[in-house]
Amino acid sequence: MTIYRATVLDTPGELGRPHGLRTDSDCALVVHDGTITARTDIATARREHPADEEIDLREGLLLPGMIDTHVHFPQVRALGGLGMPLLEWLRLRALPEEARLVDTAYAREVAKEFLGGLTTSGTTTAMVFGSHFPQAVDVLFEEAEQTGLRITSGLVVSDRILREDLLLDPAATLEAGRQLARRWHGRGRLRYAVTPRFSLSTTDEMLAAAAELFHEQQAGLAGELWFTSHINENVDEIAQVRELFPDATGYLDTYARHGLVSPRSILAHNVHPQPEELTAIAAAGAAVAHCPTSNSALGSGLFPLREHLDAGVQVALGSDVGAGTGFGILKEGLQAYFMQQLRGPAGIQLGAADLLHLATRSGALALGLADEVGDLSTGKQFDAIWVRPRSGGTLQTVLRHADDAEDTLAKLFALGASADIESVWVGGQEITHHRPTAVGLAPEGAA
Ligand code: GUN
Ligand code: ZN
Repeated sequence: MTIYRATVLDTPGELGRPHGLRTDSDCALVVHDGTITARTDIATARREHPADEEIDLREGLLLPGMIDTHVHFPQVRALGGLGMPLLEWLRLRALPEEARLVDTAYAREVAKEFLGGLTTSGTTTAMVFGSHFPQAVDVLFEEAEQTGLRITSGLVVSDRILREDLLLDPAATLEAGRQLARRWHGRGRLRYAVTPRFSLSTTDEMLAAAAELFHEQQAGLAGELWFTSHINENVDEIAQVRELFPDATGYLDTYARHGLVSPRSILAHNVHPQPEELTAIAAAGAAVAHCPTSNSALGSGLFPLREHLDAGVQVALGSDVGAGTGFGILKEGLQAYFMQQLRGPAGIQLGAADLLHLATRSGALALGLADEVGDLSTGKQFDAIWVRPRSGGTLQTVLRHADDAEDTLAKLFALGASADIESVWVGGQEITHHRPTAVGLAPEGAA
């Protein structure tokens, strides 16, 4: 067992509730086999576990691990392609890079860079858009297993409109998906997600094949598969989808009529939904991944958060690397706040506790993992990040002068960056290389 002593901030309740931030300024988390077995004060922890190692994290803040509900593995090297709307960016920046993953050695390098990006930014759980190449998806899962991160991912499938080398026919994708799911779904912290790229690049036959895999109960599979795709991101994309699916009632229907919208579905973006689509997403229990830096960089639009929450849709954050501007979920929280401010009266005034919720517990709820991760309550996994601002930096200065916990958190979202994240744990296992100070057994009475 290990005792972590820290200032702990988390949001175990519901999004948007007043006093949603839980703060313990000198908290002891007792962790056994990766699970938090007690959340108490240091004197009690020492009394009950006198022989256990104690890790002193008081110089900084301990938060739940960040959760990224939409991020693309093959797009790390495409980051920073500014100045284009979605379809042009896909053609010129994202897809040429994604095509390079046909080379499995290249894919492995990218997978390492990708997982390193998640880890060093404090992301401990992610829904990951995989590659169009089955071997590259295997490589991602292999490398993810090595890191210990909680990853849900799958083969990205398309059978039209994209460049030729990224297309596969529905029968081939179904068989490749089946094999990948059999190998990886439910293995350790890994799960498989059925992943048509978007309706624009998938025929109805392809979506039917995706649905067949999503719904089939395969012998040997540990639990049901997940589903993810893009929706209602960009006005030109939406207009083209409408033309390609004249008999669908809208973008959502292209997925929903195949039974792909469910409590195990994450739909990315939804910047321009119809009101009835929001009602249907909520009724299906599906979640929406809001990707604020991507929506800003591609000029996709201002996310209608109030409309989603009023309809009862579960919303969480996604970095959408590489259209987004990096792996930092703290930055996505800040950009989500900016976008709501820019909507004027139509926006929601997000507080710092709301941003932390969106970055952690909302993601756990969207991914069906809220019983395990998303906050630092007793019984949860010790998935946590230790934020230790760089000595002499502005973040350190402003945190010293914060009024209270809410103010501390607001300052962290405003100024915090990956460089301020010193250590990251998943299931009690430290996955960063910086070790905090192990102080061993402190003398009785030492504070
Ligand atoms: N829609 C289809 N593919 C993509 C992608 O890679 N990024 C984004 N932002 N939207 C998409
Ligand atoms: Zn995306």
